[in-house]
Amino acid sequence: MKKLVITGGNRLHGTIKISGAKNAAVAIIPAVILSDGVCLLENIPDIEDVNIIDEILCKMGASVRHINKTSLEIDPSGIKEPVATYDLVRHMRASSYLMGALLGKYLKADVALPGGCDFGVRPVDQHLKGFGILGATHCVADDMIKIKADKLVGNHIYLDVVSVGATVNVMLAAVKAEGRTTIENAAKEPHIVDLANFLNSMGADVRGAGTDVIKINGVKTLRGTTYSIIPDQIEAGTYMAAVCSAGGDVLIQNVIPKHLESITAKLREMGVTIEEFDDSVRVICNGRLKRCNVTTMPHPGFPTDMQPQIAALLTTADGMSMVNEAVWDNRFRYVDELRRMGADITVDDSLAIVRGVEVLTGTPVKATDLRAGAAMIVAALGARGTTYIEDIRHIERGYEDVVGKLSAVGADIKLIETDDSINRN
Ligand code: UD1
Repeated sequence: MKKLVITGGNRLHGTIKISGAKNAAVAIIPAVILSDGVCLLENIPDIEDVNIIDEILCKMGASVRHINKTSLEIDPSGIKEPVATYDLVRHMRASSYLMGALLGKYLKADVALPGGCDFGVRPVDQHLKGFGILGATHCVADDMIKIKADKLVGNHIYLDVVSVGATVNVMLAAVKAEGRTTIENAAKEPHIVDLANFLNSMGADVRGAGTDVIKINGVKTLRGTTYSIIPDQIEAGTYMAAVCSAGGDVLIQNVIPKHLESITAKLREMGVTIEEFDDSVRVICNGRLKRCNVTTMPHPGFPTDMQPQIAALLTTADGMSMVNEAVWDNRFRYVDELRRMGADITVDDSLAIVRGVEVLTGTPVKATDLRAGAAMIVAALGARGTTYIEDIRHIERGYEDVVGKLSAVGADIKLIETDDSINRN
């Protein structure tokens, strides 16, 4: 079993370069299915989720070639059957994007119910509602969602909840539909805009991405393209939090500072100095953090994917903080792990009350999901002693070379292979 071993106490100094955005990559790679040509994708992160989606496309018949560590050339012309079985999709939530991409291209998609991070019920009712309004029907049989349409016709779709996944999936299904689709109450995340830019670079006509009304005029064909995806907002936010936990002065490069605004604002409220440049932010943190309250919201609100990391920081802030999780039902599973390190946190439904203690103490903990794992890293960097983080496969799903990036700025972090695991009895 692989573990991350982190000994806290080293201040961080230097630069960290942020990779391409996981959540943009896992939407844009399936979107290549819609193309009638070959696509070259650049700034792709070297992470497990990308490997999984590559493998899914390969097994479906596409040709996927790694030009180098961050560039992928994908030719979808070999895909014959619009079918993704459970074997293929079970590790990955974003495999649900195969539904929209396959339906948009082949008017048919048989996709097994997806896996991914477990933080409560993860419904797809809004995705299916959108497909239905475009003219598709669906049924669930043998744990597969089977969707088909004689043709897809543009229409007005109002999403009852702001959903990144439903917005992406409806965009994918609508891009080659007849006529105009309008998505109202659409998600506004940076990767929605990135997906729209990618689709437009293939010849699609998508307007308004980044606002809550997206208009899509269907086109008949989409050509191959070369496209470079945006930097990862959450990876950047995680390293910003890492510097705040350990203390230090780090330049975080290859970011879009505008995408980090809500994170930057909260860290400033906590007393951190953040300087913004064109494509980098400098984080300077000395001394104890101040308390603050955080409520997660769809973009441009504070991202739920940064909630565990900010809560980890607040465990040693001066005073009592409240963290309100307003996007997911069950995203506090990591709290037990922070308690093992000495954190004082009580959870009542969607609210966590965090009472800052002087210092956390290193101990064996688990990464209960991807961002929970990131929170363990953040906590460990500022803790007294050594933290052993298990189940790091979750972290590997979304963070490229976390050991290399943190070691380069002075963290005491290494990856080990051992046989033993945490005994919870
Ligand atoms: C995406 C991100 C994930 C992030 C989340 C919220 C990717 C690959 N993943 O997940 O990291 O945490 O956005 O920013 O981009 N909902 C419904 N019905 C639906 C769909 C969603 O009720 O059909 C609800 C969900 O239960 C949740 C909320 O809407 O409470 C937001 O979910 P959604 O934005 O769809 O999350 P994902 O796209 O799965």
